[in-house]
Amino acid sequence: MRIILCDNYEELSKKAAKLVASQITLKPDSVLGLATGSTPVGMYGKLADMCNSGELDFSEVKTFNLDEYYPIKKTNNQSYDYFMRENLFSKINIRDENIHIPNGEADDPEKECADYEKKIRESGGIDLQVLGIGRNGHIGFNEPDASLNSFTHLTKLTENTIKANSRFFRSADEVPRQALTMGIATILNAKKIVLLASGANKRKVVSELIGGGINTSVPATMLKTHPDVVLICDRESYSGARLGIDIGGTNIKTAIIDSDNTVVYKGEFKTGNTENEIITGIVETVAALRGSFDITTVGIGTPGIIKDGKVTAANLPFKGTPLESLIEEKTGLSVTVDNDANCAALGEVVFGNTKDCENIVLITLGTGVGGGIIMNRQILRSNNNMGEIGHFVIRAKNGRPCKCGQSGCWEQYCSMTAFTRDAKAMAKKNPDSILFGLMKDGTLTGEDIFNAMDSGCEVAKKVFDDYIRYLAIGINSLVNIFGPDAIVLAGGVTRQGEKLLEPLRQLIKSDVRIEISNLQNDAGALGAAML
Ligand code: F6R
Repeated sequence: MRIILCDNYEELSKKAAKLVASQITLKPDSVLGLATGSTPVGMYGKLADMCNSGELDFSEVKTFNLDEYYPIKKTNNQSYDYFMRENLFSKINIRDENIHIPNGEADDPEKECADYEKKIRESGGIDLQVLGIGRNGHIGFNEPDASLNSFTHLTKLTENTIKANSRFFRSADEVPRQALTMGIATILNAKKIVLLASGANKRKVVSELIGGGINTSVPATMLKTHPDVVLICDRESYSGARLGIDIGGTNIKTAIIDSDNTVVYKGEFKTGNTENEIITGIVETVAALRGSFDITTVGIGTPGIIKDGKVTAANLPFKGTPLESLIEEKTGLSVTVDNDANCAALGEVVFGNTKDCENIVLITLGTGVGGGIIMNRQILRSNNNMGEIGHFVIRAKNGRPCKCGQSGCWEQYCSMTAFTRDAKAMAKKNPDSILFGLMKDGTLTGEDIFNAMDSGCEVAKKVFDDYIRYLAIGINSLVNIFGPDAIVLAGGVTRQGEKLLEPLRQLIKSDVRIEISNLQNDAGALGAAML
């Protein structure tokens, strides 16, 4: 389940309307599943505005409403039929024959339900289902502990729902005791689902939905079994804290972000040596942190390749480890795992000095060269190990061999390993140089190279110029491919600030912003929390 957190109800309505609008734009004869209740009213208003301004055309759209009270007259101003005409259908160019709402006046409710289900099937099925969520976790009128696998059916309203809905009637006595509703199976058959939640009175149920497991006492949790669900909620309805975990070779970093996107905690513990030690360390840390924070989600960044939730990493004891499901099982929380460089890139665009950007490429210059790509403020990812920017070939002829099996990979020229290795080789060739004089036990650090340059060492300058040239070649190519608003550089060498940036900018062909990460090693855990 993807979560889109909005600042307020207005933003929620806009985002939800945009989502429905793009569905209709992409497929003008879309079949929409619609909900009533107070939450989607703002969204319906925006959709009507888009239709009236000519931006959106409902002439081919078919709709199926989730539910209707039973029995109730269509003319009753509390019927869902009346609600939909008032809030949407009378304001858009939808054809009357394309509107479907369970008939609260039907003589035979069972037959009405079977016919309704048949009509949904005959229309080709629901492309996008809009849902609200009841305070007790109901969706449609699928109440807690109901038969949660049914199709459209007649159901009894719980006391809880009668009380909640009585706000629309003169008294609770007037609320019909039964309803016709799509079943959970009908809802789960929709191709896409968007669930809306707004207001402080939904806080408890939203936290149960996000943080808890699948449970018939909160029917909305059944949505977690669907592959394409978006929850759009506002800050009032979402209070939980998000825990981010960044697994490194030596240490595991943690960060907690509250619902206002404020970083409320940062920590660190030792990475274990075995798969079991790492998992136990994470589970114990999560348990300890839950003592102080209301954690609802956990995001984990890990090195390596993640395929179908399983992690394989060269430098960690993960060989097809189902990290996501393991941690989820042991903590009971909702867990998402992604590549650590992807997480760091997400951290940069949410919390870093490129938080005003939509599209960035993060390049980490460390032992190797890694990075992540953010497009439209989302991680650009595939199930096939994408974003290995250290391994695009920048020197085809006589390229340096790389451990990945290719030759001439960017990381063979621009990692810190390559930078200091080149400096060492050049120093050895020039024993009179300042650089050679700075060698300790046959090694040089990045800092030594800059210190030598500061003292006027031509040999160090040559090493640096070559390094910067290769760095610029790679950056220019990435800019050509992704057209980012900014390139963010991270890693030890970036501590040099303008000494690195100034000559680099001169070799960059476009006016793309080049920034040095202000988050550095913290970006991974922060981004993981936002997964
Ligand atoms: C509406 C429906 C209900 C509501 C839910 C939330 O068709 O089936 O499940 O979505 O009760 O209602 P509001 O939005 O009024 O909080």
